[in-house]
Amino acid sequence: MPEVNIQHLDKIYDGGVQAVYDFNLDIADGEFIVLVGPSGCGKSTTLRMVAGLEDISAGTLIIDGKDCTRLAPKDRDIAMVFQNYALYGHMTIYENMAFSLTLRKEKKEVIHRKVLAAAEILDLRTQLNKKPRQLSGGQRQRVAMGRAIVRNPKVFLFDEPLSNLDAKLRGSMRRELLLLHKKLNATMMYVTHDQTEALTLADRIVCMSMGHVQQIGKPIDLYEHPANTFVATFIGLPPMNMFEGKVEGNKFVCELFSYPLSQSQASALKEHDGKEVILGVRPENITRPGSVKLTVTNNENLGMNTLVHGKVGAQTVVCKFAEWCNYKPGDVVDIGFDEEMMHFFEKPVTDENGAIVEYGKSII
Ligand SMILES: Nc1ncnc2c1ncn2[C@@H]1O[C@H](COP(=O)(O)OP(=O)(O)O)[C@@H](O)[C@H]1O
Ligand SMILES: [Mg+2]
Repeated sequence: MPEVNIQHLDKIYDGGVQAVYDFNLDIADGEFIVLVGPSGCGKSTTLRMVAGLEDISAGTLIIDGKDCTRLAPKDRDIAMVFQNYALYGHMTIYENMAFSLTLRKEKKEVIHRKVLAAAEILDLRTQLNKKPRQLSGGQRQRVAMGRAIVRNPKVFLFDEPLSNLDAKLRGSMRRELLLLHKKLNATMMYVTHDQTEALTLADRIVCMSMGHVQQIGKPIDLYEHPANTFVATFIGLPPMNMFEGKVEGNKFVCELFSYPLSQSQASALKEHDGKEVILGVRPENITRPGSVKLTVTNNENLGMNTLVHGKVGAQTVVCKFAEWCNYKPGDVVDIGFDEEMMHFFEKPVTDENGAIVEYGKSII
C-alpha cells in the first residue's frame, strides 16, 4: 500500500484560474519525492492541497489508507516546513520545537524527550536556550525541521525550504537533508524550482509545467530519457541544445547544418521521414571533431571542464568539454554529436499566438 495516494487532483482557484490539472501520484513509505518546475507551475498549490491548506477542487487524497480529501490539516498526520521558517521570535529554540506538542497537551517528560531527540538529530543540543535571532540561517532552517520532526508525522512536506539560504549553505543543507531522510526513514514531499536540488535529493522527481505533470521518474530517467521538450530543457544545466529541423531519409537537416543519422536512428525516425522534428543534444554530449561549425563567443573554464559558448549560424549552442580549453572568441570549432546521446522530439503544438499548448513528445 502506498503511504500517499493522490488521484486526479485538480485545483481551480476562486475566479476560475486552474492551477493544477489531473495530478496523480503514489508515494511509497520512506520515499523522497521532489516536485520541480518553474515558478507558477502549480507545485505549491499541489503541496498545499496535500497539507490541507487549500481545498481540493476535484480528486482524492489518501494518506496511509485514510481518505483525507476533506480532512482538516491537523487531522492529516503531516508536517510542513516553509521557506520562511515561521519561527516564533520571542520563544527559545526549545519552546519553538516543543510548541505543537504543548498545544496537543502532551506530558512534559514526553515533550522533553522528543525535543532532545530531534535536537540531537539536527545538531541543535547546544542552541536550545537561544532565541531564533541568535542563530544562523541554516540553524533556523534546522529548527523549522525540528518542529516537524517532534510531531513524528506520516509525511513531511517542504515548500522551497532552502531558497532563502546562500548558495554554499544550500549545498550543505542539501546533504543534511539527505542524511536526515536516511535517519528518519520518513516519507517526504519536497517542492523546489531548482533542478539541481531535484536531481540530488529525489528518489523520484515529478516535473511540472503549466499545472500539468510532464514526467515522473528517477532523476537518471528524466536526465537520460526526458519525455518531452520541456523536461529535456528544464532538467540539466546548462540546458540541452535544441535544433529544429527535418528528417530526410538518413539525414537530419536544419537551416544550419545537415547531419548523418545512424541506421538505427533512421529506422526509429522512419515515420517522421520528411517531417519536422527537434534534435536535442546535451552540452556534455557534443564531440570533437565533427561536421558542424561552431563559432566561439565565450570560453568558460570550470576547472575539470570547460563550457564553450558559441553560435552555429544564428543559434546559440553550449558545449561542455571534459578538459581545460583555451578557445578565443571567433575561433571555429568542428563539433559533432555523440550518436548514443542524440534525442529526437516531435515539434511542440502551438496556438495561433505561438504559445505552446503541448510540448514536443520524445521520439527516441
Ligand atoms: N490564492 C490564489 N488565488 C488565485 N490564483 C492563485 C493563488 N495561488 C496561486 N495561484 C496561481 O496558481 C498558479 C500556480 O501557483 P503556485 O502553485 O504557487 O506555483 P509554484 O509554487 O509552482 O510557483 C499560478 O498561476 C498562481 O498565480
Ligand atoms: Mg511555490
